[in-house]
Amino acid sequence: MSNHEIIVVKDLKKYFGEVKAVDGISFNVQKGEVFGLLGPNGAGKTTTIKLLLGLLEPNEGEMSVFGMNPERDEVEIKRRIGYVSEEPLIFKSLTPKDLFNFIASVRRLDESKTTELAREYMESLEAIDYYEQLIATLSHGNKQKLQIIAAILHEPDLLILDEPIAGLDAKSVRVFKSILDLHTESGGSVLFSTHIMEIAQDLCDRIGIIHKGKIVGIGTLEQLRQQANKLGASLEDVFLRLTEQDTSVNEIIKKLRASFKMKN
Ligand SMILES: Nc1ncnc2c1ncn2[C@@H]1O[C@H](COP(=O)(O)OP(=O)(O)O)[C@@H](O)[C@H]1O
Ligand SMILES: [Mg+2]
Repeated sequence: MSNHEIIVVKDLKKYFGEVKAVDGISFNVQKGEVFGLLGPNGAGKTTTIKLLLGLLEPNEGEMSVFGMNPERDEVEIKRRIGYVSEEPLIFKSLTPKDLFNFIASVRRLDESKTTELAREYMESLEAIDYYEQLIATLSHGNKQKLQIIAAILHEPDLLILDEPIAGLDAKSVRVFKSILDLHTESGGSVLFSTHIMEIAQDLCDRIGIIHKGKIVGIGTLEQLRQQANKLGASLEDVFLRLTEQDTSVNEIIKKLRASFKMKN
C-alpha cells in the first residue's frame, strides 16, 4: 500500500442472512480525492461505509483505512475521520452551540477556536440564526448542515459522508462543495455516497457505480463512458447501461407511451 491510498477495499463481502448487501466489492480512495459511491436505494452504500468505520464486521475480504484495519484500529481511525451518517442527529435536546462545545471537549479541541470556526460555517451555510435553538426543532436540511459542520470541526484527514446533501437547497450545496474543495486542497480525502446523478457528477473526481452489492463501473466520468461504450453520454445513461437497466427503462417508457395514446 502506498501513502497515497487512504482507503483500500478488496473483494469485501457482507451478508445479512440471505441478503448479499455487499457482494465482493473493490475500490480505493487516494489522498486528496473525492470518491463517490453512486447507487440506488439498497445497493449497499451504507453497509460499505459502516464496514469501513468498524461498525459492522465483514464476512470476507480486506479493507484498510490510513493503512490500518477498521476492525482492530477503530478508535485511531475514527480520530482522523469526520463521519456524517444517514440517520438524523441524535442530540435533539441540545442546541448547535451545545453540540459544538460537546465535540470540542470530546475531541479535545481548543474551545474558542472551535466556536469561531463553527459560527463561521453556520454563517456560510445560512444557519447561524439557529445557533441557540434546540436541534429537535430544526428542519431536516438544517440538521444536515449541523452534521456536516460537526464532522469537519476537528479538521479530519478523511470525510465519510453517507448521502449528505439529500436535504440541502441549491445554495447550500454550493457552499458544501466549496467546503469539500477546501478540505481536499489541504490534502484531505472524501468518500461519499449518493443516489443523485448530478451530485456525483458535480462533486466527485471518481465514481464507483454500485448495484446490488457489486461495483459495476469505476473511474472518472470519461472512463465510465468508455466502460459503458457510450462516449459523450450523460452519467444517467452510463449508469443505466452499466446497471443493465436501460432496456427495461425503454420498455417501461414504450408501454407508458402506448397506454397514454390509448387514452387520447
Ligand atoms: N441490518 C440489516 N439487516 C438486514 N438487512 C440489511 C441490514 N442493513 C442493510 N440491509 C440490506 O442490505 C441491502 C443494502 O442496504 P444498504 O447498504 O443500506 O443500501 P444503500 O445504503 O445503498 O441504500 C439492502 O437490501 C438492505 O435491506
Ligand atoms: Mg444508505
